Amino acid sequence: MLDLKKYGIEMWEEDKIVSFRHKLLAWYDEHKRDLPWRRTSNPYRIWISEIMLQQTRVDTVIPYYERFLKCFPTVADLAQAPEDKLLKAWEGLGYYSRVRNMQVAAQQIMSDFSGIFPANYEEISSLKGIGPYTAGAIASIAFGLPEPAVDGNVMRVLSRLFEVDLDIGQPSNRKVFQAMMEILIDPARPGDFNQALMDLGSDIEAPVNPRPEDSPVKEFSAAYLHGTMDKYPIKAPKKKPIPVYLQGLIIENEQGQFLLEKNEATGLLSGFWHFPLIEVEEFQTEDQLSLFEVAENQPSLGLSPQESFEQDYDLTVDWQQQPFPKVQHVFSHRKWHIQLAYGQVKDSQHTAAGEVLWLHPEEFDNYPFAKPQQKMWEVFQEVRNK
Ligand code: ADE
Repeated sequence: MLDLKKYGIEMWEEDKIVSFRHKLLAWYDEHKRDLPWRRTSNPYRIWISEIMLQQTRVDTVIPYYERFLKCFPTVADLAQAPEDKLLKAWEGLGYYSRVRNMQVAAQQIMSDFSGIFPANYEEISSLKGIGPYTAGAIASIAFGLPEPAVDGNVMRVLSRLFEVDLDIGQPSNRKVFQAMMEILIDPARPGDFNQALMDLGSDIEAPVNPRPEDSPVKEFSAAYLHGTMDKYPIKAPKKKPIPVYLQGLIIENEQGQFLLEKNEATGLLSGFWHFPLIEVEEFQTEDQLSLFEVAENQPSLGLSPQESFEQDYDLTVDWQQQPFPKVQHVFSHRKWHIQLAYGQVKDSQHTAAGEVLWLHPEEFDNYPFAKPQQKMWEVFQEVRNK
């Protein structure tokens, strides 16, 4: 067992721990949010909810959760799902490696566990994409095992309760919070205990505008009692995402079809369909530049972006001199700045490029589109309909 004193943490006596559990769970029983995954103890369903909730808010997750379970009601359905259908069900949630890993894990459950969700922490942890947080959440919520589920919310709550002087953004510090939770967790109701801390951390103990006065456990909180709430949790500022500048090329043929291509098999947004994107050097600062103004500002490239595109795709495009507002999208480590250009081709020209399709807008729903593609299409339609 980790020596918490070494980290400047004074753990409570048993009496105080028992009374803390009691207070927290009494509050949870009265105030817990009524969420669809709280009406089940089916580990498959709880797993889906926990993966969706990792980087996404509860309100956003609810409709996705319902829809996903309609599409893939069982582990077997998920294990066999075609890629397009899988990505479509996750479309808009982002961080798509989550759903790809889930499918691999579903296949593991089918092959290694005879299709039955494993019921202990070690075996749950052996599934692809399931780290200590998710394993703890499933083990405690679905199986009633006394396993902590330490996420950012829980670390924030514990930091304030104990005035923990450790950076919660530093992965190596997680083990300290894990050790604290192993002592604090209520062995009689571990799933509710974990979820009570999640609820507390996402509302009353939120990162911004917390309401410490309303906390059911304020008299246990060292930071509250010492007036140091604004110091905790300790968290070093995040690094800024790296900017990436792209030309988004919207090309229409005479039948009103648009050129879309599929992302390569690996990397960011693999498997998704989108308008052709070309990475370029930094844009000028103005918000609205046409492709041609950008090209003029990039003499070092030799060929302009649209010229090299036409060469690579073996198309002759009649580009329109039409400015579009920039499309921006932030991923965890990258910020995309997309400058759109619109052009038309005569005849239904075939292109020399790899996996591409000419699609009518009515057909877009049949293909997985990631957020940047949805935003490009929205901006294009707004400008066109003006
Ligand atoms: N965030 C992550 N898991 C959650 C859960 N089970 N309930 C509410 N919020 C959560």
